[in-house]
Amino acid sequence: MPATLEVMIAAEEIQRRVREMGREIDADYPEGPIYLLSILKGSFMFLADLARAIERHSVRIEFMGISSYGRDKTSSGQVRVTKDLDVSLEGHHVLIVEDIVDSGVTLTYLTRVLEQRKPASLRIATLLDKPERRISPVQITYTGFQIPDRFVVGYGLDYAEDYRNLPSICVLTGE
Ligand code: IMP
Ligand code: MG
Repeated sequence: MPATLEVMIAAEEIQRRVREMGREIDADYPEGPIYLLSILKGSFMFLADLARAIERHSVRIEFMGISSYGRDKTSSGQVRVTKDLDVSLEGHHVLIVEDIVDSGVTLTYLTRVLEQRKPASLRIATLLDKPERRISPVQITYTGFQIPDRFVVGYGLDYAEDYRNLPSICVLTGE
């Protein structure tokens, strides 16, 4: 069956919502640096837009690599750090920037790892949330869109490393 893409969230809608999230984050945090901790690779596009929507001078950008998915549409359930930070988070306000929360396994693991590094605060911002899929509960402070249990690609999200460059979020079927 050939792969088909159907737009779920249009590019303009994403842009509007991300700008709103940026304003909300800016208003919530005290003056000073916010560390945006992007989880590679899926959140790179969201990070780029969110960072520009936060209007303060000290927005620090850090990246971590976490792997839980192979060439598959479901989690392998095994999470590991594939790229760690080279800065200390101690005493800093850290906002994890994720593309999508699915089972919650990745973020449960990651928050446990990061709490040990004693940040001043640790919160989660995710573009997408599939609440129906949750196995491991996670507290999310900023959510772009709650979506039904469909496999989506685009705006950073991939299937087997493809489709990340799409400007909209699309449902992928037939792969
Ligand atoms: P979790 O540990 O099950 O919450 O998995 C979260 C990660 O799985 C996300 O950061 C994505 O990389 C990936 N993922 C979950 N659902 C989708 C999807 O619909 N499309 C693409 N990647 C997904
Ligand atoms: Mg991811």
